[in-house]
Parts: sequence; C-alpha cells; structure tokens
Amino acid sequence: MNGIQILIVDYGSQYTLIIGRTLRELGVRSVILPPKKADIWLLNNKPKAVILSGSNWSVYGEGAPTLPSKLDVTGKKYLILGICYGMQLLAYKLGGIIEQPHAHREYGPAEVELDEKHPLFKNIPAKTEVWASHGDTVTTLPKGFTTIAISKGIAAMANKKNRVLGIQFHPEVAHTKEGKKILQNFLNISGCKKNWDPMNLIHQIQEEVLGNVSGEKDKKLILGFSGGVDSTTLSAILVPVLKERLICVAIDTGGVRAGEMEEIKANALSALGAGIKNLIIINAAEKFIKNIGTTIDGEEKRAKFREIYKKIFEEQIKKNKAGFIVQGTLATDLIESGHAGKSVMIKTHHNVGLDWKINDLHPFRNLFKYEVRELAKTLKLPPAVYERNPFPGPGLYLRVVGTPVSKEKLDLVREADKTVTDILKKHNMDKNISQLIVALLGINSVGVKGDERVYGHSIAVRAVQTSDFMTAKGYYFPHIVVEEITSALTKHKNIVRVFFDMTPKPPATTEFE
Ligand code: XMP
Repeated sequence: MNGIQILIVDYGSQYTLIIGRTLRELGVRSVILPPKKADIWLLNNKPKAVILSGSNWSVYGEGAPTLPSKLDVTGKKYLILGICYGMQLLAYKLGGIIEQPHAHREYGPAEVELDEKHPLFKNIPAKTEVWASHGDTVTTLPKGFTTIAISKGIAAMANKKNRVLGIQFHPEVAHTKEGKKILQNFLNISGCKKNWDPMNLIHQIQEEVLGNVSGEKDKKLILGFSGGVDSTTLSAILVPVLKERLICVAIDTGGVRAGEMEEIKANALSALGAGIKNLIIINAAEKFIKNIGTTIDGEEKRAKFREIYKKIFEEQIKKNKAGFIVQGTLATDLIESGHAGKSVMIKTHHNVGLDWKINDLHPFRNLFKYEVRELAKTLKLPPAVYERNPFPGPGLYLRVVGTPVSKEKLDLVREADKTVTDILKKHNMDKNISQLIVALLGINSVGVKGDERVYGHSIAVRAVQTSDFMTAKGYYFPHIVVEEITSALTKHKNIVRVFFDMTPKPPATTEFE
C-alpha cells in the first residue's frame, strides 16, 4: 500500500497498535512490522520516520529482539524515535549503558520534567504526568546524546542533530497527558504530511486485493460474512472491484443472537446491493452444538469452533473453486491472538491464524474498529452497520460459561440477551455502550419464587465502554436499570440470580472466555 510515511517496528508491546492509531488520528498513516519484516520493508521503502516500540524484553535477555539490520541509526535517512524498550535498544546499540536500578523502576503514572526548548516538547508544560512501565533504564547515554527529560532517571534522550530520539515513557497511551502533543511534535519534526483519508484507504485496499488476486483471474474469493461492521464494510469495499468473484459465506452457528440472521441478510443487502447473488447462508447449528457441547474449557471451545468453522469454509472453497479467502480481521484480533509481531496470545480468535491451503488475505490487518466504522460511513452504509456493536464469531458459545453448552442453555442466554438489549434500547443506553455481554454462568443456586423453592441458573450482565477493545471500562448501570434488568431476567423460571460485572480490561477481558 502506498502513502505509508512511518514504519513502526513492533517489539511486542501491547501498546504498539495504539501508536499506529494515534498517528492516524493525527492524520498520518504508518505500517507496523516485526523487526525482520521491517528489514525487508526498508529495502523497498523510504519512510520519513521510524518508531521502535516498547516490549517486555530486556536488551540483555537471551534472544531479545534487536534493531532491523537495515536501520540507519544515524538518523540521516529518517527520523528515529525509540519508545521504552525502543529507547533502551537504541541506547544500548549506540554504546550507552542500560541498568535495573531499583529506584528508577516506574510502573503506571509518573511525573517527568521536560526540556521545554526541545522541539519534541514544544508547547508542553515543563512538568507533566506520563505513563511509564519499565524495570530497565538507560543510565549512561551513548556518545553525542543529551538528556531531554528526567523522571526518576533519564526519561528522554536526543542526539545532537535531533534525528535520533528516545522516550522512556509511553506517549501513545491516553494516561500520558501530553502524549498526543508529543507525537504531533514528532510528526512536525519528521516532515510527514497528513495523508489519512478514508476514501484513499478504500482505494488502496481495493488495489491491494486486486494486486493479490490478479494472477489467478478465474479463481473466486470467499469472504466470511458475519454481518458485523468489519465483514460488511470489507464486502462493500470489494464487491465493486471483484463483482461475482466475491462470495460471502454466512454461517448460522447456533450461537447467534435473536434476530441475527435477519440482520446479516439486511446488512448483506446494503453492502452487496440488491440481487445479493454473492451471499451463501449455511445452517450448521447442529454441527457446532454437537461438537462444542462436550467441553467447558474456553480455549478448547474456541479450538473446536475453529475446526468446524474451517471445515465449512473448506467445503465452500472446493465447491466454488475459490483460490482465496478474505477476512475482515482487525489489528486488535491479530494482537490478542498472538499474531501481531511478538505479542503474547490472550485468546485464540476463531478466524485468526487458520492454516488455509489457499491464500488468505486480511486487508484490515492494520486497522482498528473505529477506523473501519469511518470507512463504512464513507461508503454510505447505514448506521445499522457502522454503529453495530461487535459480537464474537463463536458467539453465545462463549457466553455459556463454566458449564457444558446445550441448545437449551444457548436458547436461554439468547433470550436473556434480548431482554437486556431491549431494556437498554428503551433507556437509550445502547449508544453509550461499546458491547453488551449477557452470559449464563455455571453456578446453579437456590432461590424462592412464589412460595416455592427453585434451583436454577445465574446470569451475568456486563457492558463495557472502549474505543479499541485493547482496554475497556466496565459500565455502571443506573440503579433503576439494574432493578429493571434483574426483575425482567428473574421472571424466567430457570433464572434465580443476576450478577453485574464491571471489571475493567485489564485485568478482565471483554468476554468471559
Ligand atoms: P476480549 O474478550 O478479548 O474481546 O477482550 C475483544 C473483542 O473481541 C471479540 N472477540 C472475538 N471476536 N472471534 C471474534 O470474531 C473471537 O474468537 C473473539 N473473541 C473475542 C469480543 O467480543 C470483543 O469485541
């Protein structure tokens, strides 16, 4: 894709993708690559700047990731900024000393004193609050470098020409008060021009996919269509250039919410246009329930879900003589399933890292949800698409927790989800929430209904607010809504208890498993 002005070398920090997102918010596009791929990229591209991300590695660790060998560390070819581990790595490779002095360790909020005259800190107060997360610290700078910020130790450094910079804290994190300004200053120094434009990006995605598939013109492309904002937007982007080569496959897994299959059809209609010849709907509910119902372990459930999901797609690939599979996988999905650089696996996503026999394409791999929503708006898709809250592929299977899944339990959790969704809509609260999770917990307990003892299920209600699902705040419902939800759910004869979960992410994840 053209228009990339910044290379972000990913050393596996959970914040790396937020750097890319923040730069895009500031109008500049970047590419995020692990060090080895960065090397290849640098051979063919001329970025204006290179950012080295943070990491949980120490530069002295055995096997610690290192600088791309093609990186021009003089800063002559492009401006360089090392963040946290990135700064330590730069300092180490240029002859500085990195140590672990106990007194210099910082985790969480920290105060720094900046050199206000330095262009990186232009228009920023001398003392400001930042977010830090490091045990190692640069204690001796490489030759030719000066300290441009201090906290408990050296908090930022620059070489004489201000072309090689390092920041020990994280400017990309919202908790760093002036973080966005620091990154804006960095962009100003780098000479990057604003070039994030949704329409441009849509054309680039079309070009990229066409470039990938033009060698095999007779081969079809299969797209996993869930009706969510990602797959709907992706199909709307691709159908004008691929026409009948694009085949969208939607699966009724038995884990969908009430009315979901109708929504899928409606969204397909708005994305693909009337006629929707390209949409295939497959009913595989029985297959999924039969296989997944035998386990209660979250990761095992995900593994089984993936297996069946993959088989269905393989059948469709064969049937339609497809040569490619194209998916709306986002940067967030890749990072959390351990497929972005060297990040740690949190959950196996149902459609990430599947080993297909044909080529798989992920044109949204560098994008965040809110960016895809922007693309959807640009394409004039209806609000039902760009405002749609996410729903995981394995669906309600992930929301029957700590107890084997059965059709009855799926039906119960589906009904409970609809009840809570309707209440939130009635109170106009659905717009404040990024995702609602209603789950059946494997805790049966005693209750009393009328004059009778009952022994029944517990339901957990959880809503979160987030912009990128990397972190999330638990949503606190007003009392009146808590009461209304509890009363409505316990009207069901098998539900005796309702729990509300406001745990933020981290430490909890959005879904229960
Ligand atoms: P977590 O629970 O990891 O969820 O905080 C972040 C976002 O990802 C969704 N999610 C998935 N989506 N397949 C998907 O398509 C999956 O396997 C999957 N697991 C989690 C989750 O609903 C939330 O929006």
